[in-house]
Parts: sequence; C-alpha cells; structure tokens
Amino acid sequence: MTDPSVRFPTNFLWGTSTAAYQVEGAAREDGRTPSIWDTFSHTPGKTAGGDTGDIACDHYHRFRDDVALMSELGMSGYRFSVSWSRVQPTGRGPAVQRGLDFYRSLVDELLAKGITPLLTLYHWDLPQDLEDAGGWPERNTAYRFADYALLVAEALGDRVQMWTTLNEPWCSAFLGYGSGVHAPGRTDPADALRAAHHLNLAHGLSTQVLRETLPASARVTVSLNPAAVRPHSDSEADKDAARRIDALATRVFSGPMLHGAYDEDLLADTARLTDWSFVRDGDLAAIQQPLDGLCLNYYTPSVVSAVLGDKVVERHDGHGDSTHSPWPAADRVAFHQPPGEQTEMGWSIDPSGLTDLLLRFSREAPGLPLYVTENGAAYDDKMDSDGRVHDPERISYLRRHFHAILKAIDEGADVRGYFLWSLLDNFEWAYGYGKRFGTVYVDFETQQRTPKSSARWYAELARTGEIPA
Ligand code: NOJ
Repeated sequence: MTDPSVRFPTNFLWGTSTAAYQVEGAAREDGRTPSIWDTFSHTPGKTAGGDTGDIACDHYHRFRDDVALMSELGMSGYRFSVSWSRVQPTGRGPAVQRGLDFYRSLVDELLAKGITPLLTLYHWDLPQDLEDAGGWPERNTAYRFADYALLVAEALGDRVQMWTTLNEPWCSAFLGYGSGVHAPGRTDPADALRAAHHLNLAHGLSTQVLRETLPASARVTVSLNPAAVRPHSDSEADKDAARRIDALATRVFSGPMLHGAYDEDLLADTARLTDWSFVRDGDLAAIQQPLDGLCLNYYTPSVVSAVLGDKVVERHDGHGDSTHSPWPAADRVAFHQPPGEQTEMGWSIDPSGLTDLLLRFSREAPGLPLYVTENGAAYDDKMDSDGRVHDPERISYLRRHFHAILKAIDEGADVRGYFLWSLLDNFEWAYGYGKRFGTVYVDFETQQRTPKSSARWYAELARTGEIPA
C-alpha cells in the first residue's frame, strides 16, 4: 500500500533548474557580447574572490554530458535560461545563428531523452549595451525585450512547449538597482521602482509576442520569488511592516501581472520616492496577460518588525551586504534571523513558507497551475576520500519542503512540477563559487561532475513519485 501523505500526483514534472550565466561559461564565444553580469563580476570587489562566470560549469561545451546525467538521474524536466547577448549580441538587431544553435541542440538533446524543457527568457543577464542605454529603469528596455522574445520564439517555438518570461524580477530590480549587490550595481531606490515597472511591462509585451508566435499549445509562465513574510510579533506596527514588505517584494509584480493594478498601499508607501508617472496609459492592461502557469521560487521566509523611534535598523534580509537597502521607503523595517537551523547562505529553514505561498496563489489566481521552479539549499559539500559526496543536510531540507508541497496539494493547490535549484554547483552570483547549491558536485578545476547523495535520493523520488523513506 502506498501512503498518500508521501505520494505526488501522477505526471508531476520532476526537474532541476539552472541559469545561463551561472553554468554556461564560454563568455566570449560564438559572438556573445558582455552582459551586465560579465561587467559586474569583472569589477573588483563585486563578487567573492573576484569570481566570474567566464568558465562556470563549462556547460556550453558539456551540455550533452549534463543532459545524459539528468537522464541517468531520472529527470522529466529541465529549466534553463537563454543568454540574451548570446543570441542577440548588444540586445538589438538580428539573431546570431550560432547562439540559437546552442539552445536548439540543448533542447533536442533534452527531447531525445524524454526531458521536458522549460525555457526562461531572462535570468538577470541584460546585454551590457542596453544597460549603457539606461537599463531596466528605461522604458525602451521593455521594447527591446519583446523583440528578443520574438527571435527566441521563432527559433525554438517548434520544440519548446513551456516558456517563462522573467526569473525573479524582484532581484533584477531591487538588488540590481536598489542595494546594488547584483549587476549592474546601481543604488537608486526610485530607479529600482522604475525598473520593476519596466520588467512588468517586458513580461506583458513578451507574453503577447509569445502568444502570437508560438503554437496554441505552448504554455507561458513567469517565475516570481514572493516573500513569505511574517511579522515578528502580533503588534499592529509589526503587521504593518510585514504588509509593506509584502507590497515591495511580491505585490509589486503579482499585482499588475495577475490583477492589472499596483495596490494603493504600495503607491502610498513609495510616494516620497516617485509619483509612478512612468506608468503610462495602457501599461497595466499590457502587463495583465492570461498565463498558463505561475512559477514560484522559495528558499526561506522573511521575519520583519517595525523600527520605532531612533533605533538603528539592522537588516539581515539574506540578500547580501550593502549600505543601500533593496527595500525602497521601508527603511524603518528590520529583518530578523529566526532561531534554528540555517543553510550555508545563512537562510533559515522553514518549509511552511512554501505551503503558505502555494496556497496563497492558488486562492489568488484560481485555476492557474503552479510550479515550484526553484527550491534548494547551499551546503559546504566536500568530496570524501572514497570520491563520494554525502549531503544529508540537503536531503533533510528537501524532504521537509516536499512534505510542505504535499500539504499544499492536499489543501487544494494545483502544483504540477518541481525544479530543484540546482542541477550543478555553479556561480552563485555575488557569492561566487563558494556556495554550492547543486545536487551534482562540480570540481571547478577539472569540471568533473559527481552526483551527491541528494541527487540519488531525488532520483528515487522522481522515479516513484513518493518521498523516499
Ligand atoms: C534565485 C536565483 O534565481 C538563482 O539564480 C540563485 O542561484 C538561487 N536563487 C539561489 O540563490
């Protein structure tokens, strides 16, 4: 007898996630021009140890082996992103066939192994030329993105069914233009809000382009990283702090994308920074496009309180150190590190946040299938003398999050798939290669791949649909 409390629905998609700049390498090959992450990572002091994605996991040259590994691990899905400046150098003009060929070959390899590709158009690597022209705070970037979406859809629409416009636009806007811990490293809160709107517009315009270009059977989604925000206490002030962060982390994207509006409280909270006049007539209708799925990325919750009086605000929001906040006009909000277990990122482990988010969006967007497109943990994995990598902490993290997903399903959430972050240890942005999220260990000297014990454990789950004992 199978135990229903550990069993996932049939046809559930089991996959892993990666992103172009974090795994591909080949930064200067086949016509690719620099993205903001090339520039940023090559700027002294921006990434740990000066690490860059120049070589990364060399996936550009090793993708066949990597797909074979996925197949061996029983994966039925794979989420990857396209490097914009690899297929459309400088972010304008015609596509480069060699760039598109890489993704065609990757997709063909996946399909040949029965693995469903989930293609993300944008995972943070804006062509540097577009940043030089103003980047996401400029409206034109959204139009350029729609053009780029058309090139990719024309090239891959015959073989890719599942599409995602943007990955975690919160990070692009608020870490890229607010706190500056991500590329392009700018620190202007009003620009961060402008960037958020233009990312929303890019999502809407590209969704329209995908609809016009792709076969009717194609599915279009977006990946958000909504915050599971908890007030530190029941006080009205702390609840209000949680409301503010929810608006800035989550509703600034889900509002226009799902409901065609920016919430009044968000506009009021940020009024001293901007009058939002960059939102033009027709933008909200353009952004609110019907979707075929909502993709959620979840790692850790946020516990916040209001800072009253003159107290200095300490911010431990898990998004890196900067004297600039990624939370515009929320400078009187403090983030708290909940007690208990943490991953190597210093992120506390609380799977109930994932249940809460899945249930929240299943109620907020009834009928919209949900996917978990990122979840996972960094640990300081080491290879044993026997050549194996044992990562029981990661298995424990994953197990608890799978139970959290089953709980949401049991309570009515329509969850269709899970993409573990990540297939491989890779370039963890400003943290460089020091933070290992993979279920496959990568020796960055030799590029040798070694599945960790979590990869075998996850393969067993994918094979049986049941959380292994
Ligand atoms: C979110 C991002 O989408 C991904 O690129 C990153 O590596 C993981 N979270 C872990 O921080």
